[in-house]
Amino acid sequence: MDFLSILILFFIILICIIFTGLLYDALWVPTKKEDYNRIAQLANLQPKMTFYDLGSGNANILFYLSKKYDIDCVGIEISPFWYFYSKIKSLFYKKVKIKYGNLYKHNISEADVVYVFLLPKTYPKLKNKIDKELKKGAKLILSYWPFEDSKPKNTSKKEGSAPYYLYQK
Ligand SMILES: C[S@@+](CC[C@H](N)C(=O)[O-])C[C@H]1O[C@@H](n2cnc3c(N)ncnc32)[C@H](O)[C@@H]1O
Repeated sequence: MDFLSILILFFIILICIIFTGLLYDALWVPTKKEDYNRIAQLANLQPKMTFYDLGSGNANILFYLSKKYDIDCVGIEISPFWYFYSKIKSLFYKKVKIKYGNLYKHNISEADVVYVFLLPKTYPKLKNKIDKELKKGAKLILSYWPFEDSKPKNTSKKEGSAPYYLYQK
């Protein structure tokens, strides 16, 4: 294979990695590492809690939080690339589980905290799932966009960074 073919192949793979999620509820954009502790504080994470990331991408937030806060983490991811990447990495983190597929096909009733960084167009369907499955007292954190029709219980804002919105069932 010549250099140009390799380059074209590389860009096709890159585009697939980033855009698979866009066929569903969001393209892949990772949460910034500097925001992990803000999210943890907003959720008031305590040891032994179970934290879900719906559309977990590279799942880096889960690997970080599981160790730092001694919590169980579950990621659900639809992009095969990010699923395999994070699944393999999770073999080295006994408190992180990665599941493959559409988040709407996985039950989230075990979650104490659910983290969501998806496009707001998905919120009506997401709300439906949350209403049906999330246990009483469990928390939901939305990145960037709040629900339009309900007020968050708390908000974390920092200049130049994403806002995060906390809801509690
Ligand atoms: C904006 S990224 C956020 C990634 C990760 N949660 C983070 O904060 O770093 C959204 C992720 O959701 C995935 N995704 C989009 N729709 C999905 C669906 N219906 N089920 C599972 N994953 C989905 C995309 O593939 C992408 O990796």
